[in-house]
Amino acid sequence: MKILVLHGPNLNLLGTREPEIYGSMTLADINTRLIEAGKEQRVEVVCKQSNHEGALIDALHDARAWADGVILNPGAYTHTSIALRDAISAIQIPVIEVHLSNVYAREEFRHVSMISAVCKGKILGFGWRSYLLGLQAMIDMSTNP
Ligand code: DQA
Repeated sequence: MKILVLHGPNLNLLGTREPEIYGSMTLADINTRLIEAGKEQRVEVVCKQSNHEGALIDALHDARAWADGVILNPGAYTHTSIALRDAISAIQIPVIEVHLSNVYAREEFRHVSMISAVCKGKILGFGWRSYLLGLQAMIDMSTNP
């Protein structure tokens, strides 16, 4: 089994970016933990990050060829990107939406997600563990449908 973990804009700055909201772990730290968690269960985890909407869409299209599922944190594109939503609908592999912060406890513009309706489910508010929970849900779902 292979899973793509896809991080959107500004998440490359994790560790130094508003740590009171996003925590102090870097993106590399998070990716290492996810890859390790995957390995323990014989799952290959591939992590990618881009600050560009089109590159995220390309990564989703590319995932069709090799991934069994996608864990996606689209950052601020969550709230704006119909193109990302259409890409998720188009690829026909399960996508789980994750967020480090509890977006519902924050500004109102973060309460809207363009992508939730086309995702399998969503996990948020648990810091880096949102990714881990998302990964576990994806593995459990596909091994025990
Ligand atoms: C985020 C929440 C978004 O509102 C924000 O724009 C981000 C990160 C999160 O993981 O909490 O960049 O997706």
